Amino acid sequence: MLSRTIKEQLRGIPTPFYLYDMQLLGATLDAIKNEADRDGYKIHYAIKANNDERILKAVLARGFGIDCVSGNELRLIRRLGFPADSIVYAGVGKSDTEIRLGISEDIRAFNCESLQELQIINELAGEMGKRARVALRINPDVDPQTHRHISTGQADSKFGISYREIDQVAEDLATYKNLDFQGLHFHIGSQITDMHVFELFCRRVNSLVEWFVEKGFPLTYLNMGGGLGVNYNSPETESMPDFKAYFDAFRNNLKVSGVETHFELGRAMVAQCGELISRVLFNKINSAGAQVVIIDGSMSELIRPALYEAYHEIENLDARPGSSRIPYIIAGTVCESADIFATDRLLPELRRGDLVTIKSAGAYGASMASCYNMHDLPRVVYSDNI
Ligand code: LLP
Repeated sequence: MLSRTIKEQLRGIPTPFYLYDMQLLGATLDAIKNEADRDGYKIHYAIKANNDERILKAVLARGFGIDCVSGNELRLIRRLGFPADSIVYAGVGKSDTEIRLGISEDIRAFNCESLQELQIINELAGEMGKRARVALRINPDVDPQTHRHISTGQADSKFGISYREIDQVAEDLATYKNLDFQGLHFHIGSQITDMHVFELFCRRVNSLVEWFVEKGFPLTYLNMGGGLGVNYNSPETESMPDFKAYFDAFRNNLKVSGVETHFELGRAMVAQCGELISRVLFNKINSAGAQVVIIDGSMSELIRPALYEAYHEIENLDARPGSSRIPYIIAGTVCESADIFATDRLLPELRRGDLVTIKSAGAYGASMASCYNMHDLPRVVYSDNI
């Protein structure tokens, strides 16, 4: 892990802060590009994973597009120079203002999540005297076998257009004069590590594509979303996911031809290049006899453990040689019982002032940070600036 090798340079920097390994980021993006280019797959980085401008510039330099979900994300990526044609826009609740912005920018596709959204985009495009390119986000009802908070493609989810409304959508689509139908979009969930899930997903998609073609809607665009997981348990032995295995699942199981295939990876592109660096503030023993260590990071800076009970590797960068391992509760500073990074975590003794790294924090870390308890948003340090 980068922080271990440069810990002396980190010592003077006020904690907590995110440390981004720009070399690992570049290598990860290059690995994705190599694999995706083999099949002409189009990659859109899911900016919600991390909207840091240096990261976005590295994404842009590889010719990837963006998957955005808000007007502010769209404005940011246009300012940074992402071509409109490389931008796709998902989200269950696009406001009229955001839809107008997407129409005026002439983005590659709105990934539409409801019958009503399609109708509104058609109306707003008409008022603006423009046409909008749309794809339908269909909920394929596939179990992604991941945490329920990050499952998005099952029957009971709020996302996408359900099988119940699919006949209606085909009927409506034929009547909308201001929409250019592109194809289908899916996103079944996140942190998926079993490639069989993607294989099953492809089979569902094959039959949906066939259904639309039979109804008289030829497709030019097929967007398979994101979802590829990373190894949170062992980030150092697996510093990037197996992109070949991931794309092979689609190469071998997607049976569609003449269609441009798109992906929207977020986590897999950036998770392993980020760490949250904190410092130990206090040690104490609670009434149950457990050793509690309070670090100066919190759920305000990294909410994943509190929100999803997510596991992140934690390391004491100042571990003393020969120090025995102690089961710790690693807790954050804010006034919430859920503000715990780990319980019963065996770590070499932690003392006040020790530097601690929380690994695999590049995705959904800084981008989900809040100012709760009036914290400042966490600062960022780039490996190539120190
Ligand atoms: N496309 C759409 C439409 C999405 O909603 C998402 C993520 C992605 C692509 C990218 O998915 P990825 O490749 O990163 O799995 N905050 C949670 C993850 C939420 C994911 C939301 N949607 C976490 O920290 O685990």
